[in-house]
Amino acid sequence: MTTSDVPVDRSDEASTAKTCADVMVMLRKDTADAHQSMEDTPVMRSLLAGTLSRSGYMALLEDIYSLASPLEAAAMAHPLWTRATNFDFRRRLKSQRLLQDIAFLQGASPEDLEIVPRTVRLPNVGSDARLLGALYVIEGASLGGRVILKQLTDLYGYTAEAAACFYAGYGHDTGQRWREWCAFVEDYSRDRKLDTQEMLSAALETFGCFGEVLGHG
Ligand code: HEM
Repeated sequence: MTTSDVPVDRSDEASTAKTCADVMVMLRKDTADAHQSMEDTPVMRSLLAGTLSRSGYMALLEDIYSLASPLEAAAMAHPLWTRATNFDFRRRLKSQRLLQDIAFLQGASPEDLEIVPRTVRLPNVGSDARLLGALYVIEGASLGGRVILKQLTDLYGYTAEAAACFYAGYGHDTGQRWREWCAFVEDYSRDRKLDTQEMLSAALETFGCFGEVLGHG
């Protein structure tokens, strides 16, 4: 079975994307090949094909954590939030969700986990445009997470409460939270006249970093 065999209902996501204005449409279009490369990594193929072992799934979560954790730390410390005070990015952090899932799988509590994150390449988030481009990749991944959650539930019985909190994303609020994110990025980039090509470049770099993380083994 290949990834193209997996029935992926994109109708909701497609209509979601249509509500997002130009910069988001451009990001979606110009990163489409990079996104396809994510779906084509061996680990994602194996997850979609139903052949990923439980230990393989845990290794996947740890790999994503290795990148998401330092990237989110850099994002939290970014000066953009001193300007965008109306947007609560902290509510969107994914690292804690990853830790919660890994802890569940290890039968430990998140506080007792001892993860030694691998050293990974991080995207350059040295400007507002670049930060938003990098975060586009992490936020957007919640949309595909719904497909993956279904697979994890079918395969292992994992749910939003048990081992698949990261992929469960925002649950039924996913479409709404994505629209809020799109509106924020659109408004901020227009008001601040951000360079959208710089945003795209950071999004592509971030996909590249994820590709390295997902493709390492
Ligand atoms: C098996 C793996 C994956 C599947 C099946 C999947 C599937 C999807 C689906 C169905 C969407 C909804 C939008 C569309 O129809 O194109 C989506 C969006 C998205 N995914 Fe994935 N995805 C996967 C992996 C990833 C990974 C690993 C990342 C990032 C590291 C990622 C980043 C994104 C982004 C940024 C979007 C938003 C696209 C937009 O602008 O609308 N995806 N994905």
